Amino acid sequence: MPLANTSFLDACRGQRPARTPVWVMRQAGRYLPEYRAVRSKVSFTELCHSPQLCAEVTLQPLDRFDLDAAILFSDILTVLDALGAEVEFNPAPHVANPVRTLSDIDGLQFGKADDHLGYVYDAVSACKKALNNRVPLIGFCGAPLTTASYLVEGGGTKDFLNTKRLMFTEPAAFGRLMEGITTILIDYLAGQVRQGIDAIQIFESWAAALTPEDYREHALPHLTRLVTEAKKLGVPVIAFVRGNATLMEQAATLPADVLGVDWSIQLSRAIEVVGADKVVQGNLDPIALFAPPEVLAAKTRAVLQEGRAAKAHIFNLGHGISRHTDPEQMKLLVDTVHEADA
Ligand code: CP3
Repeated sequence: MPLANTSFLDACRGQRPARTPVWVMRQAGRYLPEYRAVRSKVSFTELCHSPQLCAEVTLQPLDRFDLDAAILFSDILTVLDALGAEVEFNPAPHVANPVRTLSDIDGLQFGKADDHLGYVYDAVSACKKALNNRVPLIGFCGAPLTTASYLVEGGGTKDFLNTKRLMFTEPAAFGRLMEGITTILIDYLAGQVRQGIDAIQIFESWAAALTPEDYREHALPHLTRLVTEAKKLGVPVIAFVRGNATLMEQAATLPADVLGVDWSIQLSRAIEVVGADKVVQGNLDPIALFAPPEVLAAKTRAVLQEGRAAKAHIFNLGHGISRHTDPEQMKLLVDTVHEADA
């Protein structure tokens, strides 16, 4: 059976559907009371390991809002299972055995993603079945640098000290780590696509931790390899390189179908930098959802208007939705996007 709503995939392929498609990063999550109800019974890790519950929470935002795509419920750090690193969420991620030295790197398993991530593939199948072709399902992974930073720091960080120290003092070993992670990520995305994923988003959340020169030297080549290989899987690839104010030019060199734009750059300016022949996704400030309804609606329409200069535009926030967001404001955002094209 074909998809009932192809507007998101059409836009990914550079066509302009009748209505601008909209989905929101982190659209399934703690700002929804029905998500919190599920989470009151199971831990985040248990949730990620239950295909049925993943399908349930993946569909929760679609039942409330007129969204044009679903995103698989999982996390960018589940892939660390395949490297033999243990990650816990409470709710912030914590890696018990961070990778800091050459021998730590040599101790990682750079094997096959499929041997360890079958539970994610089962979640993909369950989500596809539950969606019943209503809208496409987006699969995802973290970019090599973002993934490596959690592995090296052991969790979130403000200054990326351990990651950068490793990169500066042991550049060859850091390169090997990035290469090994990239190979696993390619394998992991292939596994997701085999189970029916319709598009891929690669999250480079922490690109701006590096200077533009260091990003070009130490991270971009690995991300380029990941995007190039992901493209061969036959589904559209979205590259979200957060830190666009300084990295938009580098992001524009990626062979992705869609470039994600964060809120640090005006969308019209991002389109000038990447060129009007590219498809862009973004970029409303997530905190605009805390503005009075008429201000939120005006800001939403302004982003939509700027997006008309691109080849095609997928409406999204410029980063993940805040857990403190009022779901009514999210509804207003989605409806404002669709009504503007009605
Ligand atoms: O709708 C969706 O997008 C759901 C799937 C999803 C999650 N995380 C669920 C999640 C996706 C696509 C992610 C991506 C992710 N995870 C990123 C990249 C996107 C970004 O925001 O930059 C990053 C950096 C992570 C790492 C991560 N996972 C952090 C920092 C945290 C804790 C902080 C937080 O947001 O609370 C997580 C846990 C996590 N991942 C939660 C959810 C819903 C909260 C866990 C809970 O329910 O307690």
